[in-house]
Amino acid sequence: MSDISGFERGAAEAAEKIKSAGSALVIAHIDADGITAASIASIALEREEIEHSVKFIKKLDPPALQFILDEECDVLWFVDLGSGMYSKMDERCVVADHHRPDSLEKERHVNPHLYGIDGSSEVSGSGVAYAIAVAMDERNRDLSALAIVGAVGDFQESAHSRLTGYNHKIVEDAVEYAGITAEVDIRTFGKQTKPLPILFQYSTDPKLIDYITDQNDDRESCIRFFTELDIDVNENIYWTQLDRNEKSKIVSALVNRMINRGCGVADVRKLLGEIYTIPENTVGTPDNWIEKLPEEMRANARVLFDAKEFATLLNACGRHELPEVGMEVCKGDRSEYLIRALNQQSGHRESLKTAIELVKLGEENGIKDKISGVPLNNIRFFNGGKKVKDTILGIITGMLLNSPEVQCSDRPLIAFADSSDGSNMLKVSGRGTKEMVDRGLDLSLAMIKSSKECGGTGGGHNIAAGASVPYGKENEFLLKLDKMIGQQINGE
Ligand code: C5P
Ligand code: C5P
Ligand code: C5P
Ligand code: ZN
Repeated sequence: MSDISGFERGAAEAAEKIKSAGSALVIAHIDADGITAASIASIALEREEIEHSVKFIKKLDPPALQFILDEECDVLWFVDLGSGMYSKMDERCVVADHHRPDSLEKERHVNPHLYGIDGSSEVSGSGVAYAIAVAMDERNRDLSALAIVGAVGDFQESAHSRLTGYNHKIVEDAVEYAGITAEVDIRTFGKQTKPLPILFQYSTDPKLIDYITDQNDDRESCIRFFTELDIDVNENIYWTQLDRNEKSKIVSALVNRMINRGCGVADVRKLLGEIYTIPENTVGTPDNWIEKLPEEMRANARVLFDAKEFATLLNACGRHELPEVGMEVCKGDRSEYLIRALNQQSGHRESLKTAIELVKLGEENGIKDKISGVPLNNIRFFNGGKKVKDTILGIITGMLLNSPEVQCSDRPLIAFADSSDGSNMLKVSGRGTKEMVDRGLDLSLAMIKSSKECGGTGGGHNIAAGASVPYGKENEFLLKLDKMIGQQINGE
């Protein structure tokens, strides 16, 4: 049973502790959820006039924690990380996290798992930071839009095609206090920024082009698809500019084609979900900012109107060493930092594409289900070595697992890459699906145990987890993981 009032009481106690501080350090993870969580914390502290700074880190391991504990300030506020190391912290630490905790202690430790709330789908790091911010001051409810961006950045809407649980409460706040709209619409990524034919040509989840044509003239077929429906398309028409009637004509036509091609209900259902649209002006933004941007940036800047696209912009910053740039955008900058963030996007897209192509190519970096000829029974893996940046390893693992072309979504996918921090550890990412979790998969537990037995550390969620293991230990680690996951899923 989820104990929401207990969770909120925990948040209120943490809020009291934070408010009594003269100085604070916020420590956050570098992804979209961590960046939005840090922004919520930073704005809430500013409103209390508490002097503070923000530090972003890739992972919280024992040396990183020691470094932070050496800082001199009254409160160390961890957001979107910390629960895996809670038992090693001191009384200045306050944790707002949603990862599997290493301790059930609730003092200065706000984590949904301690209250029967699912931290992989019902509230994210930014949502926990939001609960604390609201307890600090009611006026912080206007920060709810950022918590939605964080939750969507962590794929928390994916299981039910909408935000549920505590996240749903945050959506209600975001509608009331931040002007967000939450409406069922097509889920395709890029509705705000990709012109219509391009949106349909390149969409991958689901891959719409497969239902539109089997010719090799994808763009032409997309244009024909719209003109046959009497919908005028050109370079400047975006999905979000269509009216309800046009949208429903397109969706009906797509559903017809999907059914004609033998799609099941599950595929059709994937087409739609609750979409969170953010207004032009949110906390801290100047008026008429779009008009003040260089003209060539205005269309791209619309990423900020869609929670999913906003989250991807933040990942483009955080995963490429610029989390602070993302935070300034969250806090309202719509000029210098926004321009820097937008300039990061194409590089991020390219690095994902290059990494995915490398793995798809097979050979040394391809997906495997054997180690030295010995078959693995429950998992597959690949090793990106030096060629895949460790900060994007998790994203591409999830994209590969869910790619219809790769066809590997029947087993968890485990990935390795060399660490960029010069340590002797390999970065590990793992991704599963909701179906596997329903059958018993807990990737986080399996990663924690297997990495520990190999001299490493791990953590995360049942559906998505990561670890660090010493170089040379990858085979031993995989065999342990394979066995543990077999026990979880098949009771082997
Ligand atoms: O640190 P962290 O909480 O950010 O990682 C969350 C990760 O979990 C996201 O990167 C996302 O890819 C993954 N995830 C997923 N499917 C879900 C929930 C989360 O792949 N249903
Ligand atoms: O799959 P698709 O190309 O529609 O994804 C759009 C963007 O969403 C990607 O460029 C990537 O940045 C982000 N994404 C992600 N994690 C995933 C899938 C997509 O961050 N698992
Ligand atoms: O890095 P990646 O995106 O694969 O991480 C998946 C999940 O596992 C994230 O929630 C991340 O915070 C967590 N993780 C962890 N300890 C690690 C690596 C990842 O808790 N050593
Ligand atoms: Zn998170």
